[in-house]
Amino acid sequence: MTMILDAALNPAEIENLPSRDLAGTTCVVFDVLRATSSMITGLANGVAEIHPAATIEQALALRAELPDAILGGERNGDRIEGFDIGNNPLEYAALRGRRIITTTTNGTVALRACERAGRVLVGALLNVAAVAAALAGTENVLLVCAGTFETFALEDAIAAGELASHFPGASLTDAARACVASARAFASPLDGLLASRNGQSLAGRGWRAQVEWCAQLSRFDSVGVMTGGIIRAL
Ligand code: MLT
Repeated sequence: MTMILDAALNPAEIENLPSRDLAGTTCVVFDVLRATSSMITGLANGVAEIHPAATIEQALALRAELPDAILGGERNGDRIEGFDIGNNPLEYAALRGRRIITTTTNGTVALRACERAGRVLVGALLNVAAVAAALAGTENVLLVCAGTFETFALEDAIAAGELASHFPGASLTDAARACVASARAFASPLDGLLASRNGQSLAGRGWRAQVEWCAQLSRFDSVGVMTGGIIRAL
């Protein structure tokens, strides 16, 4: 069996995913700066559950059902007014045993768009090797690059390309090949993240340490799996 690796590279494609038949597909969702990096940091540090919500209203409704949950997320990179935490991965490192509800501009939207797929995994540079191991024996893989607002985001393609590089025998679509080329274009993931629009914007806001955190390759062996709209460690 040859693995087929495809990629969805921008939010317009992601918006159409709910109308596609993905029953036989494993989606790996990347929002490296910063949503999925925050989630993996949380799971690796003992967070019990993450509930991704597409909108602020949905996050607030979930919190009414789960009053003990931490409410996190961002809009324009900033913590949402009245929420407990923002989207800084380091905030997610100190919530052992907790349940988090989070809504972000692109990352949580992309995750929810994949919810009818056969399997949904949370991808980041932080856990590339672990995700690759979890994909062993999988036939159809869609690398879902969450992007930024309405556009492609380089850092997501870099992480998807790092993952694709673990499968030299796979059959790659042009979109997946573009991810591999994105990863190969830089001497290191950090170089790539610092060249990206999001990396520059975060660094410009004094958050370079967060970019450096998210650029660490395979620091954690945690894989997040979303089932019934809830992400837990595999
Ligand atoms: C997103 O989901 O769009 C990002 O994670 C945004 C961010 O962290 O600033």
